[in-house]
Amino acid sequence: MRKVFIHTFGCQMNEADSARMVEALARAGWAATSTAEEADLVILNTCAIREKSEQKILSALGRYRPLKLERGVRIGVGGCVAQQEKARLLKKVPYVDFVFGPDQVGRLPEIVRRVEEENVRLAETEWLDSSTYVFPQADPEFARGRATAFVTAMKGCNNVCSFCIVPYTRGREVSRPVDEILDEVRRLVDVGVREITLIGQNVNSYAGGVSFAELLRRVASVAGVQRIRFTTSHPHDLSDELIAVFAEEPKVMPHFHLPVQSGSDAVLVRMRRSYTVDWYLDRLEKLRAARPGIAITTDIIVGFPGETDEDFQKTLDLVERVRYENAYSFIYSPRPRTAAARHMHEWGVVPRETAVARLVRLQARLREHSLEYYASCIGTQVEVLVEGPSRYDPSRRFGRTPENRVVNFDGDAEVGETVMVLVEEATPNSLSGVQVGYDRHRPARGGDSNRVRLAVVA
Ligand code: 5AD
Ligand code: SF4
Repeated sequence: MRKVFIHTFGCQMNEADSARMVEALARAGWAATSTAEEADLVILNTCAIREKSEQKILSALGRYRPLKLERGVRIGVGGCVAQQEKARLLKKVPYVDFVFGPDQVGRLPEIVRRVEEENVRLAETEWLDSSTYVFPQADPEFARGRATAFVTAMKGCNNVCSFCIVPYTRGREVSRPVDEILDEVRRLVDVGVREITLIGQNVNSYAGGVSFAELLRRVASVAGVQRIRFTTSHPHDLSDELIAVFAEEPKVMPHFHLPVQSGSDAVLVRMRRSYTVDWYLDRLEKLRAARPGIAITTDIIVGFPGETDEDFQKTLDLVERVRYENAYSFIYSPRPRTAAARHMHEWGVVPRETAVARLVRLQARLREHSLEYYASCIGTQVEVLVEGPSRYDPSRRFGRTPENRVVNFDGDAEVGETVMVLVEEATPNSLSGVQVGYDRHRPARGGDSNRVRLAVVA
């Protein structure tokens, strides 16, 4: 059987797309491998969100090039850089065999076949809209042995944030019909999945026949679904109905990723975010009232064109007020075709050193806040859904709390089980402890070592 290696960059949408690629290629006789060295086909599923993400793709391509020279390995590029660059990428990188956009994932086997049989180089980057696009269905067999799964709820984005390339790489919003989603959820639960994460670039503007809040209720009513998460949300579409779901539906996990981007209204206007800081804070207050203890996480951009010291101070003030559980923060990166890139000289380019200094200051504070949340768990018991062996020590387990805190622990629970863990240590992004009732000195259940059993499941 021939082998394909898929290197995935970027967000959960890309992770889900890579899973669909593996499934589609499997139907055409390809086996997935985890090393490029033994692959006959290498696919890069790319991200274009910042310039750095694009540079990473180019250097990865450079690393795969010798495989092509030595063994004639075919190289394909999918995802957002593919959609952005289209056929230009074939010119820029002569050893790339084919380029395909995110909407072409279902057609991947056919594209690969043509490349091989007709010996052509192809760029397939047509966008499909709601009348032509069919969401590829997940094959549940590939989720067997896993506790969690992503389920695509919608694709694309209709917002016009001035910094963001996504509308140009993923197109307009298309929502997946509610029955298709529920069908996929049922089939995933049947093979043992316990936690469903609904994904979409702008998932809370879902419009597949019911509101997003109603979609959550319907997923919650599927027997066997234990936990529901979703990502990513725009504050502008955070409805009262969605907030109410957090009060009503315990299966919806107490975590909300709500990218704020900046704490300054003046910057938010230039970002075209369509909310004010007060409005954002009001949403959070209502969310926290609906679900006390809910973990709030965010994304923040510093060094956006025209950002003054006062604007940045407002971002720091916001961070102090909200005290985010976790936050991803970035230096603004101008992206092709976006409004901010066009206007940045008029608005005022923030010097690189200033942006770096702001990022360092912001991240130090964010880390302190994260650590406070994580350290407050020490000595308490947290509920963990077991996902597999710990990444750093396969003899331990790994899972997440309802708030999405990562927990590595000693224990003997199987993947898919929910257990209580006594927390002993904390870092700003993970907890460590021991499963309640587990004796660290007792030999593993069933005679064989835990390590072997879990490694197989993963
Ligand atoms: N520069 C820097 N960060 C960006 N993001 C999106 N576009 C850019 C850009 N041009 C960040 C935003 C978004 C996250 C996924 O990436 O914070 O929420
Ligand atoms: Fe990267 Fe955005 Fe594309 Fe995801 S949607 S892969 S974050 S550019």
